[in-house]
Amino acid sequence: MDCPVPTLSAPELSIVVPTFNESANIAPLVRLLDKALSGIAWEVIFVDDNSPDGTSRVAKELGLIDSRVRCLRRVGRRGLAGACVEGIMSSAAPTVAVMDADLQHDETILPAMLSAIRNGADLVVGSRYVEGGSSSSGLSLIRQWGSETATALAKRFLRIELSDPMSGFFMIRREKVEAIASVLSSDGFKILLDIVASTPERLNTVEIPFTFRERKAGESKLGTLVTAEYLGLLFSKISGGLFPVRFLMFLAVGASGIVVHLATLKITTLAFALTFSWAQFAATMVAMTWNFVLNNQLTYRDRRLSGLQFIFGLVIFYAVCSLGTLANVGVASWIYGFGPNQMLAGLAGAILGSVFNYAASSVLTWRK
Ligand code: GDD
Ligand code: MN
Repeated sequence: MDCPVPTLSAPELSIVVPTFNESANIAPLVRLLDKALSGIAWEVIFVDDNSPDGTSRVAKELGLIDSRVRCLRRVGRRGLAGACVEGIMSSAAPTVAVMDADLQHDETILPAMLSAIRNGADLVVGSRYVEGGSSSSGLSLIRQWGSETATALAKRFLRIELSDPMSGFFMIRREKVEAIASVLSSDGFKILLDIVASTPERLNTVEIPFTFRERKAGESKLGTLVTAEYLGLLFSKISGGLFPVRFLMFLAVGASGIVVHLATLKITTLAFALTFSWAQFAATMVAMTWNFVLNNQLTYRDRRLSGLQFIFGLVIFYAVCSLGTLANVGVASWIYGFGPNQMLAGLAGAILGSVFNYAASSVLTWRK
């Protein structure tokens, strides 16, 4: 018997939509896509990280009556970038797009994006920063600033000539992603930058402006955090991958801990008249707790501890930091023995202590 001949035309375009708690936006988005994409063979792939609000159920119910609607429900994993990559990997269409579920991305530019691909582009980016694009209404001022700074840094250090490398709205030939799939990071949300930075050749890129709309239903999951992690990724790439993003975030948290330490020292000696040793002890405890909470919130937010685990984690973190401090002081004193260079000895100790704390806490405190 001959091979079965497919009777239904396969989609030319898969639109990958990462979702977390977007149940109210699913049906409106599909309606808008249907309107915008008439005449194009498309499908939408929702990649939902097991949202408690039942987003995947809503999407699958829709999939039951509309075969263009697919949904991949991921359990035990979280993260925008990983969701996008998995969605793209699940597609057989020659062209894939990534867009947000919350209607902030303007679906009416999708046909123009697809035309650009048909005309030879490898990558088409929906940009808020080229002439005609805008985001003033959809982003807070601080995020806008962060977004612009990150863009400037990406240009300067990674020679990425995109006006909006943080955009979560783009279309690309699927083969381009397949080729680099094994090196793409699944942490965080910087999928576009990661794709561009990981592709060895220059992608033939087109930018199309759009206006970033305001979110109507549900809430933003990224917030100002986006910027912090984004800057981390940039520094990591600039260092040629020598420093992992997580380590840089750990260091940044540690730096803020030093400020907290010094402030606590001042307050406890002034307000509570503690002796220096007790004040130093109190400041150390406060700073360690501060670092733990911040790391739990930011650096390890994908492995965030809560409830009883939070308490256990905190105790282990105290132990790890104490060992790190011993190692720090030990090495610093040892180096100081070779020649009284305070700066050098102090720095060596601090570096060793930080590396130890990072390595030990990622294995012991926030283990996978
Ligand atoms: N599967 C999955 N897993 N989806 C997620 C996750 C996650 O952990 N976190 C967020 N999403 C989905 C949301 O449901 C939404 O569809 C989309 O990713 C974007 O999330 P928002 O929370 O709406 O992001 P935003 O509006 O603050 O940020 C937008 O602008 C950034 C640039 O400033 C996004 O377009 C980002 O991609 C973009 O980098
Ligand atoms: Mn959004």
